[in-house]
Amino acid sequence: MSTQLLTNAISFEENPLYETIINDILEQGFSICDVFFTESLISDLREEILTRYTQSELKKAAIGNRVNESIEKEIRGDYIQWIDEQKANTTESQFFDAINSFKNYLNKTCFMGLLHQEFHYAVYPQGTFYKKHIDTFQNDDRRKLSMVCYLNDEFWEDSNGGELVLYPENLEEVVIRPLPGRVVIFESQILEHEVKEILKDKRLSITGWLKTR
Ligand code: OGA
Ligand code: MN
Repeated sequence: MSTQLLTNAISFEENPLYETIINDILEQGFSICDVFFTESLISDLREEILTRYTQSELKKAAIGNRVNESIEKEIRGDYIQWIDEQKANTTESQFFDAINSFKNYLNKTCFMGLLHQEFHYAVYPQGTFYKKHIDTFQNDDRRKLSMVCYLNDEFWEDSNGGELVLYPENLEEVVIRPLPGRVVIFESQILEHEVKEILKDKRLSITGWLKTR
C-alpha cells in the first residue's frame, strides 16, 4: 500500500450517527434522526427562515421542474426559497457543512456518487398541504436522497397537523411529526409521501436533495 492510501485508510473514522442512518435506509428506505444538527443551529435557521418569510422572499412553489412548471394549489401549498450555497451566510454555511460531511461519508462508504445538492426553505401556511407524490421528475432522475429538516419550535403540537406521512412498500404508513431539529431522509425515487394539512400556525422546514450527475 502506498503511504497516501495507508494514511487514508487510517484516517477514516466510522461515524455512528451516519451508520445508523445508512442502516435504516438500507433496511426500510428511510431514516428519522433527531440529532443531525445542533439545537443552536436549528434555532438560528428558524430565525433565518422567519426573517425571509416576513420579507416575502419565499414564493409559491410549483409542481415539477422548469420544463413542466405549473402552480396547483390543489396539490401543494407551500412557499419556498432556494438556498445558494455560494452565497450562504454563517448559519447556512454551518448547515451545508453538516450536509457535505454526510454526503462525503455516503460517497466513501456506499459509493453513491453524490455530486450535487439543492436545498430550499419551505413554509406551509395554515390550511396548506402537499398531496401524495414522489420526489423525482419524469425527465430527470438525478435526485437520489431526499432530506427534510424541520425548523418548527418546541410548541409544535399534534393539533397543529402538518405530519409527514411515508408510504413504504410492504410496510404500514409512517406518520412523522415535524418536530424541531428532526431530519427525515429517504430514497427520492421510490418512497411515496405526503404532507398533511397544517391546521394551526405555519410549518417551517428546509427540504433538499442529494443528487448524482
Ligand atoms: C417535498 C416534501 C416533505 C415535508 O418538499 O417534496 O415532500 O415534510 N416535503 O415537508
Ligand atoms: Mn416530497
